[in-house]
Amino acid sequence: MCGIVGYVGEQHPKEFLLDGLKKLEYRGYDSSGIAIKNNDNIQIIKCTGKISDLEEKINKENLISSKIGIAHTRWATHGEANETNAHPHKVGKVTLVHNGIIENATDLKNKLVNDGVVFRSETDTEVACAVISKYYKGNPIEAITEAIQLLKGSYAFGVLFEDQDKLYAVRKDSPLIIGLGKKENYIASDIAAIIKYTDQYILLNDDEVVELSGENVTVYKDGKKIKKEIQTSTMTIEDANKGNYKHFMLKEIMEEPIVLQRTLNKYINNMDQMVDISPYEEIHIVACGSALYAGMIGKCLLEEKANIKCMTDVASEYRYKKIIYDRKTLVILVSQSGETADTIAAMRKAHEEGIDTLAIVNVKTSTIAREAKQTLFIEAGPEIAVATTKAYLLQVAMFSLIALKAAHSKKLEKNYKEIIEEAKQLPDYLRKVLNDKDVFAGIGKEIKGARDAFYIGRGVDYAMCEEGSLKLKEVSYTHSDAYQAGELKHGTISLIEDGVPVFAIITDDKIKDKTESNVIEVESRKAKIYTITNDASIMNHHFKYVVEKISDYFQPVLIVPPLQLIGYYTALERGLDIDKPRNLAKSVTVE
Ligand code: M6R
Repeated sequence: MCGIVGYVGEQHPKEFLLDGLKKLEYRGYDSSGIAIKNNDNIQIIKCTGKISDLEEKINKENLISSKIGIAHTRWATHGEANETNAHPHKVGKVTLVHNGIIENATDLKNKLVNDGVVFRSETDTEVACAVISKYYKGNPIEAITEAIQLLKGSYAFGVLFEDQDKLYAVRKDSPLIIGLGKKENYIASDIAAIIKYTDQYILLNDDEVVELSGENVTVYKDGKKIKKEIQTSTMTIEDANKGNYKHFMLKEIMEEPIVLQRTLNKYINNMDQMVDISPYEEIHIVACGSALYAGMIGKCLLEEKANIKCMTDVASEYRYKKIIYDRKTLVILVSQSGETADTIAAMRKAHEEGIDTLAIVNVKTSTIAREAKQTLFIEAGPEIAVATTKAYLLQVAMFSLIALKAAHSKKLEKNYKEIIEEAKQLPDYLRKVLNDKDVFAGIGKEIKGARDAFYIGRGVDYAMCEEGSLKLKEVSYTHSDAYQAGELKHGTISLIEDGVPVFAIITDDKIKDKTESNVIEVESRKAKIYTITNDASIMNHHFKYVVEKISDYFQPVLIVPPLQLIGYYTALERGLDIDKPRNLAKSVTVE
């Protein structure tokens, strides 16, 4: 939920730290800070608001000369977003930045207060800092190794010790990578922060402690040195920049045909590579937010096409619920980041029960990618805008492929070859939709003043409504709800009044007529109907957009961009900070 970076080398760290924070700002953006050091002099500068505010503040300060530093951008968990609670925190000789949550912070704090430690902030981070400080007797590796035995929860720490010229780091259940440069080395929450400087990096496993100087990186486990493999990132500098687009969100939507092509190329000519889930008798699809909504489309396809019993659940519920695994079950975890705390917990719960897991993930270095029994990677590349777009589209496409493979294996799909051929055209169909983006910009203008909006559909169309509604609300702050079209008249229809925008998604031939009747019901109450369909013959009420009619497996993929563009353009009309909506963070690494 927060972003951390650290530098040690021959340059002043200011430029790297600010640059890195800007690249990580999507992870949290309510306050930020840096700490740089020269011998035993540590200078800490913190600020509420955006990284640009921190930069302004830093530029006004007299910075000490330095070749080492750490920095942090925060999404507040413990304590409000103010300067005192912002990181870095310093206790004794230890200065630290933290991503994650220390769950036993209150217990630890009470004990430390009894020992005479005075805390300034309300954060769990300051407690972790105090614990490391307590164990620090001149050996940083020993102090960190001892301290983490006491910490419950998740953490990625970047640590400076007043009397050491090296940088230290450790992680557990929170992402952290070690970047390897020339006469300088780095720590970062993700590759985007360091790609301008290096493509070489090391992945840390839980509780591996690392010591970095400009020349060396040494990794320890339980106090003993261990060897680590060096990885090379395929990310480019362009991936981490907006290019000519005003926002990452629009850039990422417009990249959808390319990333879809990349993902399809892997499988469509080589369906042997696709995981075959047909031997399972029951599928649990577990995820959060948009990833869950992609899973809801997956459930419809798996049940309808492959005849496999399937349920979806919110990861934060699934992890604590009694689950009766009485059939041969596969748990499918869906996560762009692969770091969502609840989804990780759901995966581990399945593993504890001896249940197979399959993850659909974007970030290859992530915890879920590393721990799931099997993984299918979507090839979205880095997704920087907080609201997911291209990754969600690929999650949907991945379920299309999984369902097609399972239906084929069970000999339930007689048009298999034609569907495969048709799928090859998908990126072109998608381009056609995106070429119409101005149409959706027009809708943004029309609905910018709306207080509420509704999305209605049935079956797989309803699953798409959920995502359309989430996109609109998270980036444009328009209250919106998604309903199964037949459900509205059981109460919610009382909210329909003159001019309320209602988006109707109608693609499923079997139930088209039923949804149409529901549309007419709300239109009679003066709602403004925006229909998105694959059927040109459907009645146009106020607005109608027709996408190519293709196989049921891949049809949802074409409905995705209109929904995302409507959210984007409405937010644009409202003049909002589209890539960083209020209160959100890209990857939710806390419960
Ligand atoms: O990284 P994940 O796919 O696990 O993230 C899941 C949700 O947090 C994410 O999809 C969220 O709903 C986004 N705000 C959607 O745009």
